[in-house]
Amino acid sequence: MFNVLSQKMMLLKMFFKLENTLTQESSLSITGTVQEDKRSKGGVEIIASNINVVHIADEYPIALKDHGVSFLMDNRHLWLRSKRQFAIMKIRQRTIKAIRDFFDDRGFVLIDSPMFTGNAVEGTTTLFETDYFNRSAYLTQSGQLYQEAAAMAFGKTYCFGPCFRAEKSKTRKHLTEFWMVEPEMAYCDINQNMDIIEEFISYIISDCLKHCSQELEILERDLSKLENISSPFPRISYDDAVKILKDKNRDFKYGSDFGAPDEEAIASEFDKPVMIHSWPHKTKAFYMKRDKTDKYALGVDVLAPEGYGEVVGGGQREDDHDLLVKRIKEHKLPVDAFKWYLDLRKYGSVPHSGFGLGLERTVSWICGIDHIRQTIPFPRTMGRLEP
Ligand code: 4AD
Ligand code: MG
Repeated sequence: MFNVLSQKMMLLKMFFKLENTLTQESSLSITGTVQEDKRSKGGVEIIASNINVVHIADEYPIALKDHGVSFLMDNRHLWLRSKRQFAIMKIRQRTIKAIRDFFDDRGFVLIDSPMFTGNAVEGTTTLFETDYFNRSAYLTQSGQLYQEAAAMAFGKTYCFGPCFRAEKSKTRKHLTEFWMVEPEMAYCDINQNMDIIEEFISYIISDCLKHCSQELEILERDLSKLENISSPFPRISYDDAVKILKDKNRDFKYGSDFGAPDEEAIASEFDKPVMIHSWPHKTKAFYMKRDKTDKYALGVDVLAPEGYGEVVGGGQREDDHDLLVKRIKEHKLPVDAFKWYLDLRKYGSVPHSGFGLGLERTVSWICGIDHIRQTIPFPRTMGRLEP
């Protein structure tokens, strides 16, 4: 009896002492009994029997008031501790798992593409060049070309990792380092590619709805906007999309790529992701196959609803050797650097397709947050290399 009482007195004294010294973010180790707390739904409380102070924190820079985003980004290493950021990171983790599960469960082989490359994939304007033992190397913009080699060996493959683009524009949708998953399939045409894309996106969304309800609640996400995401998705041609813009009296030059406001105007016509196919070939990369008219590239871009922008870019690849050489030259790319890639069209070339889904844009959409920088732990943009 005496022992229990004196222990309680000691604890009380300790509590009073700590009350004035414990600062926000101090670390404690508490021993005690965990029991249900009827006042909070499903919550528990600890009846403490001992408290050990591990570290008294300095004055914490992030207070409960509103801070500017730039300040919070400077303190990203601390901001990650906030409830909202925690929820976003958990949803990112779940999205990554859903992506891997989808392809692993369907017989795709994981083949990692390299990060250092000797050639451009997505144009030369966003290449990060680095010195590589007295020659130039580029940080990869996309693992696609290596997946094309892999698909010729294994049938269906994917890679999933960081990609790098020297994006000089400050937008809500561009990072210089972002993650992309890129599946590639042999004996697959553009229509079969679109079938997989809609099944894949629907799977990710339903998986996150199933496993991240608490996190989505913290983010106050309007779930009704995600619950309807299932196949089929609307499929429209580039020309149809231009017609939507014209009907809305938007100033748009036929033959150019859609800018963010154009994408928003097109996507606002649909409550599901919209797949835009049949692009004027000049808008697309050298590797895209063209349709029978030779005017349009067999590419597809998927625009997420609610203005979250292009989450997927993909298409059917040119499988003819000589046409591919012609395209490489037309795009003023060095044919020599693509020697290995051209080999793929010499030894058993088959129709094949694939796509790339941007992880951070997808997480932005799922979380309902307007800026991509919160969807990656330590974002890299033109103006940010730290923390
Ligand atoms: O449309 P993109 O450029 O397509 C490719 O790279 C193809 N080689 C993919 C393939 O077919 N295997 O990029 C694909 C997706 C975009 O739709 C977007 O979601 C994301 O990657 N993305 C970016 N995300 C964040 N920041 C950037 N700077 C991005 N650039 C592309
Ligand atoms: Mg694209």
